[in-house]
Amino acid sequence: MYAKRLDNLPPYLFAQIDAIKAQKRAEGVDLIDLGVGDPDLATPAHIVDALCEAARDPATHHYPDYLGMIEYRKAVAAWYKNRFGITLDPAKEVLALIGSKEGIAHIPEAFVNPGDYVLASDPGYPVYKTSTLFAEGKCYNMPLLEENDFLPDYDAIPKNIVAGAKLMFIGYPNNPTGAVAPMKFFNETVEFAKNNDIIVVHDNAYSEISYDGYKAPSFLQASGAMDVGIETHSLSKTYNMTGWRIGMAVGNADLIGAFGRVKTNIDSGAFDAVQRAAIVALTGSQDCVAHACAIYQERRDALVAGLQSLGFTVHVPKATFYVWMKVNNSVEFTQRMINEAGIVVTPGTGFGPNGEGYVRFAITRPVERISEAIARMKEHNITGN
Ligand SMILES: Cc1ncc(COP(=O)(O)O)c(C=O)c1O
Repeated sequence: MYAKRLDNLPPYLFAQIDAIKAQKRAEGVDLIDLGVGDPDLATPAHIVDALCEAARDPATHHYPDYLGMIEYRKAVAAWYKNRFGITLDPAKEVLALIGSKEGIAHIPEAFVNPGDYVLASDPGYPVYKTSTLFAEGKCYNMPLLEENDFLPDYDAIPKNIVAGAKLMFIGYPNNPTGAVAPMKFFNETVEFAKNNDIIVVHDNAYSEISYDGYKAPSFLQASGAMDVGIETHSLSKTYNMTGWRIGMAVGNADLIGAFGRVKTNIDSGAFDAVQRAAIVALTGSQDCVAHACAIYQERRDALVAGLQSLGFTVHVPKATFYVWMKVNNSVEFTQRMINEAGIVVTPGTGFGPNGEGYVRFAITRPVERISEAIARMKEHNITGN
């Protein structure tokens, strides 16, 4: 009864973890959930107000423009100009997404033929691989290794795979490793893509969540990037709007145009009222973003200091709300954490084979809960020694 492609799909990690969490909660366990990357903070009030006002206007109740309201696309272009100094044509180089997951899931449909290779960061956001499978492409895992600062080594990819590759997925600031990429890496990526005729999809979902004065770049700032690539981004993490489902794909006009043709045949666009509220988010004061980052930074510092005090080796991430930590065995450690201490973390293997030996903490819970998690780990002798 099921299509073969369903057999090839790995189980969606977070759906599996949700089932274990539900079971533990039913047993009465007070879980500290540091598993999923969904901000616990509320969407800023001025954005919620804008949605309420827009939703009361019957003009928003109809089918939206397939590619996004032009006013929304103009707001995205203005935000990119202001934030990264990149000039985008709102009509041709910007597309509204129903969250960036939707974009990542559908982009290969426009470019990947059965049997084409897609190069995907590993560990990486699982949708890079599943979208490749849906398009009947073949996924090649580009290992993100600690000794390479969690950047892929293009020279290490076998020549026949590079020759058969049509598209690649990378993303910095990176989920799950928390790594950031220097412009040098993006420039090398453009060169690699041009030399080998590969389309680059850069996932920039976390560009605004950063610390210690670090500001993440856009891939499109690299010289020549507009010739070879698309960047996906969304309002989910920046404005605590994961439930609203609004994002954007920006970049090369031909690529955006082709992807728009796919979307026109799949969905009917994001709710206009959400797009109007997103315009307010992108064009209004950005103080709310700085405020959220200050909260995450305090949590990051508490978690990292706590884990170090327990003898673990942890990197202090400059961006994202993830802490990627070395352990002996990802799944065993994750199971111990939930079964003994009631703490949910994500096993690195859930992000691909190169995630083995790591777990990911999401700092999407208040600092008091993070401190309690450290206390519980100590109590249960879960240490790095
Ligand atoms: C790396 C990365 N890309 C994309 C997404 C998708 O986010 P959204 O669809 O909410 O924009 C996520 C969400 O967790 C993510 O971690």
